[in-house]
Amino acid sequence: MILIQNIKSLVQTEKNPVKWVAGADMDKLSTIENAYLLLKNELIEDFGHMHELHQKYSPEILSDYKTIDASGRHVFPSFVDSHTHIVYAGSREIEYVDKIRGLSYEEIAKRGGGILNSAKLLAQTTEEALYDQAFERILEIISLGTGAVEIKSGYGLNTENELKMLRVIKKLKETTDLEIKANFLGAHSIPAEYRGKQDKYVDLIINEMLPQVAEQNLADFVDVFCDKGFFTVEDTDRILNAASKFGLRPKIHANELDFSGGVQIGVKHNALSVDHLEFIGNEEIKALLNSETMPTILPGAAFFLNMPLSPARKMIEAGLPIALASDFNPGSSPSGNMKLIMSMGCINYKLTPREVINATTINTAYAMGLEHKTGSIARGKLANVFITKKIPNIEFMPYAYGSNLIDKVILRGKEKSLTSC
Ligand code: NIG
Ligand code: FE
Repeated sequence: MILIQNIKSLVQTEKNPVKWVAGADMDKLSTIENAYLLLKNELIEDFGHMHELHQKYSPEILSDYKTIDASGRHVFPSFVDSHTHIVYAGSREIEYVDKIRGLSYEEIAKRGGGILNSAKLLAQTTEEALYDQAFERILEIISLGTGAVEIKSGYGLNTENELKMLRVIKKLKETTDLEIKANFLGAHSIPAEYRGKQDKYVDLIINEMLPQVAEQNLADFVDVFCDKGFFTVEDTDRILNAASKFGLRPKIHANELDFSGGVQIGVKHNALSVDHLEFIGNEEIKALLNSETMPTILPGAAFFLNMPLSPARKMIEAGLPIALASDFNPGSSPSGNMKLIMSMGCINYKLTPREVINATTINTAYAMGLEHKTGSIARGKLANVFITKKIPNIEFMPYAYGSNLIDKVILRGKEKSLTSC
């Protein structure tokens, strides 16, 4: 049990939790100055102004809590990172150099590089080694303030190795304090042996992979990379129809490389989110309005690949919500630093600091189906928070884009040691 007191500003407080924030509301953020926060067991017990603390709680009761003084510091709900691929083998810095020399993501993929390169390495990596590598990344993102993360498969590309990846994610769920959701992304790339007969690979996903994934209860969601040079709208439709029979809700990769129709097919299947969204026009915005689908932008991938930027401001002005996630993966975004993602949101997409805080907490929580459990400071939600170093205001967080401003991390009510992270 922890009492954090004298908090300069307690950020993203909610009396009545909402499912997401959209449109003009994205620039609103509820904070309490000079606040306290009580954490009991794994949950947020109470919070309010300091002057209420001693009226509500006797010294005897408070003596049961470990007290942390947060004078001059801010307390934020942990980041929720709703789109990552952090189970992967090795790294791909050589392709990074190819990219610097002028090759595009699609050109690298066509040469058998990219996702297929990671798949080759993953096939040669044992399940234990894969877990160890992913665990290191988990420790890193914990130290960077992340409290919940969605992790995709998609570097297996055959039944054996897709299941291997999903088992690693399951073990991460069991062995870390992060809240983790698993997303089955068998349709991440077309394996070389299926080139020219892509529909046969889609058959394999539908007839062999999906039933086993579902039977072994290894996934919470299903994903398809619906884009130019990868899976078509028809492929996506077939896979999502099959997945719905197993109760798997889609969260898909869409419109990164073209106006692929990915957004529309995602909305048609009531996807929880459609992610990337570099190519968004009026048709896509129209499809998203009045849907239950969270538009999710991945600023790290657009930055790393020098892609066009999603029209985030236009989407917010149309009344949509926006979520921002890291896309942590070896090929297009080798970083899970959500504070940096906030800075990119502000600088590149012209979002305000309040908008990026909403976009990396409550809206990403929705995009993982966790809005009832995390993403804000609300009674009964998970006690997942971080305490900043001494900073003047919330704007300072995205402004000081290269500084680590996180001083303490608390997950499920337990303080994490950052030296071992
Ligand atoms: O989200 N766009 C597709 N998939 C990943 C990239 C994965 C990779 O290159 O390894 C992404 O950017
Ligand atoms: Fe991705």
